[in-house]
Amino acid sequence: MKTRVTELLGIQYPIILGGLHWLGMAELAAAVSEAGGFGLITAGSFRNREELSEEIAKTRTLTNKPFGVNITLGKRRKMDEFFAAAIEAKVTAVFTSGYNPEAFVQELKDAGIKLVHVVPGIRYAQKAESIGADAVVIVGFEAGGHPGMDEVTLMAMIPKASKVLKIPVIAAGAISDGKGLAAALAMGAEGVQIGTRFVATKECIAHPAVKQAILQAGETDTMLTLRSIKAAFRVLRTPNAEKVLDLEAHSAGVEEILKISGGEASFRVMREGKLEEGLISVGQGMGLIDKIMGAGEVIEAIVQGAQERWSALGRMF
Ligand SMILES: Cc1cc2nc3c(=O)[nH]c(=O)nc-3n(C[C@H](O)[C@H](O)[C@H](O)COP(=O)(O)O)c2cc1C
Repeated sequence: MKTRVTELLGIQYPIILGGLHWLGMAELAAAVSEAGGFGLITAGSFRNREELSEEIAKTRTLTNKPFGVNITLGKRRKMDEFFAAAIEAKVTAVFTSGYNPEAFVQELKDAGIKLVHVVPGIRYAQKAESIGADAVVIVGFEAGGHPGMDEVTLMAMIPKASKVLKIPVIAAGAISDGKGLAAALAMGAEGVQIGTRFVATKECIAHPAVKQAILQAGETDTMLTLRSIKAAFRVLRTPNAEKVLDLEAHSAGVEEILKISGGEASFRVMREGKLEEGLISVGQGMGLIDKIMGAGEVIEAIVQGAQERWSALGRMF
């Protein structure tokens, strides 16, 4: 396949493994890149620069193909050292999310590293373009992780974003199969970023209980938490998620809310399988996932499914 995103990243298929906190490790990133997509290692999963550098080195032992690093910028943690690690290792691209990455643009450009910024709305995408991002990922309301506060779906955003932006647009949110890829391309995107579908793969380090929970749940089994602290977070509907909503409704303090929804609780859930101790981030595309597959098989199935859909559409006109 050929789009501006495949050209930008030097990949065969415009399918990107999204940043996955605690889960975006070498094995999964390498499997996605080996299959022709673009794997991302998630910096937030590591304690420091050395740990990230080791993971990048490990990824290079597993694949010679291009891959990158996701760096989520926020106010809780300074991420400068992770940019230093990515730049030192000369990864192909850094995908930033959260806060504005402007402070790092020049350094990345000087190192020849592409910058893709992940945003939940068109106005943020325009800002990213104005500061020099090479591409943007637009995350829809459907998505796992933090889909933003505006509650606008991909269907409304991608056609418009591809009209108002000059840089390529990558769609993220509930894309789990070939129809999703074909639809994103039809709307004007030049690539897709996928999270939840890749959590339920063999190479993902997520605890088996998390993967099983995804297989068993459907598209109506997510809920939006953390709106009260302006960090909308789409998660699996569980008693704990209901408890978070209840705390939010009763104006609980941030610390109390984060005790069950924050990063440490998330580690116990995602890696140790203690599902009742935190929140499980997933997107609405979960309803399309019924099998644990290899990440490469997922990419093959998505590409084949998109081709089939494309031919079927061609016969309709
Ligand atoms: C478990 C999980 C963890 C995530 N962690 C991050 C993260 O650390 N940084 C980030 O930019 N996006 C993160 N995301 C969002 C994904 O990168 C991606 O944009 C999103 O999952 C796409 O929607 P989908 O899950 O419906 O495919 C996460 C998503 C999930 C499901």
